[in-house]
Amino acid sequence: IKKKGKGYTTIACKVERAGVLGAGIMGGGIAYTSAVRGVPVVMKDIAQGALDLGIGEARRLLAKQVTQGRIGQSRADAVLSSIEPTLEFNGFDSVDVVVEAIVENLNVKKSVLADVERRVQPSTVIATNTSSLSVAELGTALVRPENFVGMHFFNPVAAMPLVEVIKGPKTCDEAAARIAGYAMAMGKTPVVVKDCPGFLVNRILTTQFVSFVTLLRDGADFRRIDQVMEDFGWPMGPAYLQDVIGMDTSNHVIEVITAGYGDRMKIGFRHAVAVMAEQKRYGQKSGAGFYRYEADANGRLQ
Ligand code: NAI
Repeated sequence: IKKKGKGYTTIACKVERAGVLGAGIMGGGIAYTSAVRGVPVVMKDIAQGALDLGIGEARRLLAKQVTQGRIGQSRADAVLSSIEPTLEFNGFDSVDVVVEAIVENLNVKKSVLADVERRVQPSTVIATNTSSLSVAELGTALVRPENFVGMHFFNPVAAMPLVEVIKGPKTCDEAAARIAGYAMAMGKTPVVVKDCPGFLVNRILTTQFVSFVTLLRDGADFRRIDQVMEDFGWPMGPAYLQDVIGMDTSNHVIEVITAGYGDRMKIGFRHAVAVMAEQKRYGQKSGAGFYRYEADANGRLQ
């Protein structure tokens, strides 16, 4: 997308093949959504179990599409085989973009981003799906920060239509355009937002989160809160949402955003999500959070 007068015009920036780092909740969803929209993916994780879960999730979503009559079995098979799992960086030398979706930890992300930059072509655009870390700060790990962009998806990736695109101070327009174009190819609506704690959507969601944990401290039952908010019309209540996001990720995001806007968003007490994150009670991905979950035949927690 290039500026033209007051508006923007799309320039050619087609993504033929993508790399995804991390096969977790987000990485698995990003790989599936890319592949089902016709952009093959190589998906890397450090754990075989995580790769198996990521591929298992794609298989589950494809089976659902087949059952609903949206695609045929042969198309589903072709999509699944266009997601190539790897524990190494196999295939990363031929991707147009890399989307990093590993653990929300600044130092880990910096070292992994620096590593992947050495393994891709100089023209490859590297994107981070961070929820809360500074794109400017992450970009300092790179030799080519001009090719580094924030690409923030929402969970579940296959269902959520918005993608925040975040330019760091050194990101070039072409790199941001390629990421916006890739988001559109995945059927998403990209929105360019500022590089600030929580970007745009999570700043708004955090105010809701603060009210939720305050209600819990005041003695409200989380099941009742979920039920009321679902009756109100939300697709899921705030407690169940925390289980879907994952307490570790959520708690980290809340810490970064409340620290970033201490004058406006304060919690000031040890809240339930922080306690569960400490106890590694992460939600769906660990089998228990506010609610308990059971593994299905694929090992994925329902
Ligand atoms: P997750 O815990 O489900 O998955 C993280 C995956 O990264 C794990 O499979 C882990 O094995 C893998 N990993 C760790 N180090 C790695 C490395 N060096 N190389 C390759 N893979 C590695 O986490 P989740 O929820 O998918 O979050 C990933 C990122 O997406 C975080 O930055 C998070 O803030 C962001 N995000 C999360 C959302 C959510 O609702 N969970 C929403 C939007 C963004």
